[in-house]
Amino acid sequence: MKSIFLFLFIWGLSISAIAQQDPGNYDESRIPPYSLPDPLVFTNGTQVVTKGDWFKRRKEIYRLFSTEVYGIIPRWHGKIEITPVSRKENALDGLATREEVALIIKNGDKQINALLIIYLPHSSQRVPVFLGYNFYGNQTITNEQDITLTSGWVRNNRDCKITDHKATEASRGAFVPMWPLKEIVSRGYGVVTLNYGDIEPDDRDDFKNGAQLLFDQCRDSTSWGKISTWAWGLSRVMDYLETNSKVDAQKVAILGHSRLGKTALWAGASDNRFALVISNNSGRVGAALTKRIFGEPLDFMHEAIPYWFCDNFGKYTGKENLLPVDQHELIALIAPRPVYVASAEEDLWADPKGEFLSCVNASPVFKLLGKEGFPADTMPPLNHPVIGTIGYHIRTGKHDVTPYDWQCYMNFADYQFSKKTN
Ligand code: GCU
Repeated sequence: MKSIFLFLFIWGLSISAIAQQDPGNYDESRIPPYSLPDPLVFTNGTQVVTKGDWFKRRKEIYRLFSTEVYGIIPRWHGKIEITPVSRKENALDGLATREEVALIIKNGDKQINALLIIYLPHSSQRVPVFLGYNFYGNQTITNEQDITLTSGWVRNNRDCKITDHKATEASRGAFVPMWPLKEIVSRGYGVVTLNYGDIEPDDRDDFKNGAQLLFDQCRDSTSWGKISTWAWGLSRVMDYLETNSKVDAQKVAILGHSRLGKTALWAGASDNRFALVISNNSGRVGAALTKRIFGEPLDFMHEAIPYWFCDNFGKYTGKENLLPVDQHELIALIAPRPVYVASAEEDLWADPKGEFLSCVNASPVFKLLGKEGFPADTMPPLNHPVIGTIGYHIRTGKHDVTPYDWQCYMNFADYQFSKKTN
């Protein structure tokens, strides 16, 4: 227990640094035997045979993820007001139009504000976009200085001199390498992003400071955690994108890194308006199989970040074999829409092999739906993507989003979206 607390402390200082006290298992020979639920068998043991059967089985699986893992996303009856904040025709050295748009998300007299930044390539046609949260505010993803500093909650960060969850001038441009904006717009894609803390702070705050405030709710063991709340927020951005005449709302790809990769997968499973879903190094309770005990342990999550999930999820700590679902089924929930999963060689905390195996085990569902599925059953070499309806790569390097990852995502989107048009 002591080492967990020490690890939590170090994790609090630098989440990406896996310290010596890392409580994970990294020995393949010490993985206890496990068996995965079959997405193509109903809970009562009946086989899924037809596409129609799958969509009934899908409801079962979705319900289990809602009540046992992420928490139920409530129905939304509120409204969104859109306020343009700024517009620049010649952003990124003339390559893009840049807009800041505030979404005032309201229910009765309660509201939250989310500030989007939108880069769109100049085009006479609607453009496909990548939509994803950023970690520390829109001002961190670009070196342009005339961007509004986020007023929403941000994580503390020593390098950015953030100590009280308020964005700083020092954070401007801090995460530029994660967002190769010029490359993206040059390939004809737009980028839409917002601070995840604008929707819901990533804090143990009893859900008192973000989007959950908009709902009258009595929380119970199935109530939504933060990942469900961030997923809900992506759907609200989608509500807005459907009204934006420059965006091709049929071609919105969502992506997220790490906890936001977990969020992207759950958002993709929860809202079929997202045409393509990308998980970057999402790891445990993201793309990686939970029953495969490797890398980040559930008891770490239970101590450090229980509020990402519903309370019921806590009962599976140390009892992963009792979980009625596993993460290959999360990928299967997105079928027949394409999904890309990316791992990094040094990111053992996220269990690259467990991420790969989820793709393999989700594939039969895509095939049942007449799609190609995932054309691999052994790990590909480093930096050699496998491309089917499910795409996968493991690249050299650490837990991060790199220009290489983005190139793979754009190649995948080119391939999938051109099929969609033709
Ligand atoms: C921690 C957490 C992971 C998560 C990561 C992140 O490492 O344990 O599950 O993916 O933070 O989101 O940065």
